[in-house]
Amino acid sequence: MSVTFNFTGKNFVVVGASSGIGRQTAIELAQSGANVLAIGRNLERLNELRKSSPVSLTKRPPKIFTEQLDVTEATAEDWSSVLSNFTGAVGRINGGVYTAGIWGLTPLNSFDATLAKKIFDTSFWGAVNFVQSATRKKFSDGGGSFVLMSSIAGDFSGKSLFAYSAAKAAVQSAVKSFAKEIVRGKHRINSVAPALVKTEMMQNEMYAATANEEIISRHLLGLGTARDVAGMILFLLSDRAAWITGQNFFVDGGYIVGSYT
Ligand SMILES: NC(=O)c1ccc[n+]([C@@H]2O[C@H](COP(=O)([O-])OP(=O)(O)OC[C@H]3O[C@@H](n4cnc5c(N)ncnc54)[C@H](OP(=O)(O)O)[C@@H]3O)[C@@H](O)[C@H]2O)c1
Repeated sequence: MSVTFNFTGKNFVVVGASSGIGRQTAIELAQSGANVLAIGRNLERLNELRKSSPVSLTKRPPKIFTEQLDVTEATAEDWSSVLSNFTGAVGRINGGVYTAGIWGLTPLNSFDATLAKKIFDTSFWGAVNFVQSATRKKFSDGGGSFVLMSSIAGDFSGKSLFAYSAAKAAVQSAVKSFAKEIVRGKHRINSVAPALVKTEMMQNEMYAATANEEIISRHLLGLGTARDVAGMILFLLSDRAAWITGQNFFVDGGYIVGSYT
């Protein structure tokens, strides 16, 4: 059984689109008919993504646009500028997905403050700045849907994970608050919290060190793929989720129940 979404004529922004879950989400949105603004730092990968815009015989085929932006440095003007370029080309957006994030271990007794701050800036403050700009009337049509990326670590932390876990828990809390504010513009916002997903993030040495066999075996359905997570994101962006806001959704392959006897 397959589920397909129809986002024809819709416009979405994906932040962190050059790799992993964000890349898969951008591709699936474009394949479902949406114009996508793909944001990240790695220009080469963004260009490669742009070339994968779906071929269509319709008069106005969906298109992937790209912008290079470091979310830890972006000012309100930078966000405004990339959103203006996109909305100038395609019209106002119908929502956005923020997947930018980095992994890192920060043990309490010897943590690298620069790394801890970068983890927080990337997963949390970047998301806050994005939502603030993207939900402005000049950029967003009423009825937009926004999805931020949390993690199972936001609820179930581990040793040396305080910065990553706190940033992901902060995302979930912020979503609950934002939902009450952006409903004014008829917008919705939710977060998605995956367990281990096979993306480049897992190749990070520090990540590999925590993803041991015991942790992996708790995933009753095995490790996830970017596609597993993108499915939930597309659902939340779609109007089938029109009555859902301010929530966090675990996509964990059974990790939580697999962690308890
Ligand atoms: N994989 C997992 O097991 C897992 C589990 C739970 C939650 N998550 C969360 O899911 C999200 C996506 O992770 P992923 O697994 O898809 O990781 P990934 O493949 O490493 O992708 C991360 C994305 O974030 C972007 N990014 C990182 N720093 C950035 C910055 N300063 N400015 C702009 N973009 C930046 C990267 O783009 P550039 O390098 O081009 O900047 C890349 O597109 C993250 O928030 C992660 O914390 C992942």
